[in-house]
Amino acid sequence: METVAVFFSDPGFYDNPFDEEEYQIAYRQIAECIRDRGGRFAIVRGQETYRGGNTFEGGWIFEDGAFKRTEDLVHPAVIFNRGSFRGDAQAMTVNEPVFDDLCTDKWKSYEEFPQLFPATAVVHTPAEAAAFLQSIPTAMAVAKPIDEEEGRGVFIFPKKDILAKIPTYPYLLQEFIDTSKGIPGITDTVHDFRIISIRGEFIVAYVRTAQPGSLLANVALGANIQEVPREQVPKEAWGIFQTVDHAFKRFPDRLYSVDTGRDASGVWKIIELNSKPGTSVMEQDPGARRYLNAIADLLLSIARKGA
Ligand SMILES: Nc1ncnc2c1ncn2[C@@H]1O[C@H](COP(=O)(O)OP(=O)(O)O)[C@@H](O)[C@H]1O
Ligand SMILES: [Mg+2]
Repeated sequence: METVAVFFSDPGFYDNPFDEEEYQIAYRQIAECIRDRGGRFAIVRGQETYRGGNTFEGGWIFEDGAFKRTEDLVHPAVIFNRGSFRGDAQAMTVNEPVFDDLCTDKWKSYEEFPQLFPATAVVHTPAEAAAFLQSIPTAMAVAKPIDEEEGRGVFIFPKKDILAKIPTYPYLLQEFIDTSKGIPGITDTVHDFRIISIRGEFIVAYVRTAQPGSLLANVALGANIQEVPREQVPKEAWGIFQTVDHAFKRFPDRLYSVDTGRDASGVWKIIELNSKPGTSVMEQDPGARRYLNAIADLLLSIARKGA
């Protein structure tokens, strides 16, 4: 029987992301999908438990409807990396490391698709930052870490104030997309529009809208999230997704999201690519059900390909 495992970076069962019950439920649902397809699901945690060759010392195996601790070696056929797993040459991960890095490193993402992102620069000094700010036309600017998530370290301020907000160098500076006018027929406010895809197939789209007064549309920061049915996905967001996904065909088992925003001018741009888009529980919306099932299908199919 094939075992597939999800990897989280923190060592304890109730550590991130299981400090939120919703994630415990979502991963139990993935485990059930995999069991129903004749596979076995495990949780492995902490880089220090990795013994090489796709093997971990200890973990939690889903059995009889619950995750049970084992101190034995866990040897999954594929590792679903939901943390910062660093493998060896034998490691089989979703996503594959090169692709994961292209999405996680926001500068590399920009370099892949400069025409689809707002103008972006990595700045190493305040002088470089000032020069970039002079070069962009928007009154507002965005400063963000090269490699973070959940809105951590993202600052959006008028150009004259942003320099003082940069906490460390190097940092990313970016032109501001004014999403405050919304998306016709979908939202009339500050947003981040997400298309999640696996192996090039559309899985689900979500619009996330920022809390009133905030310019950050991250669920972790209290943004509202709502599924958008396929037939309501704006053609501009779809076009951007198609362009990106075409370029990524060289990574056949890719799982990621393309997050975009509509500027008040009507022009759409990418906000980020995300190789670990979050999972809702099945009951939340039909898209979440599709997403969790598709994750199970992807992992098992890779496991069976390798067997
Ligand atoms: N260039 C931008 N223009 C306008 N808003 C942005 C821009 N970049 C990021 N944001 C806002 O900040 C949020 C977090 O930024 P993002 O690049 O997605 O980083 P993270 O990986 O932390 O989610 C986005 O969801 C969006 O609401
Ligand atoms: Mg984001």
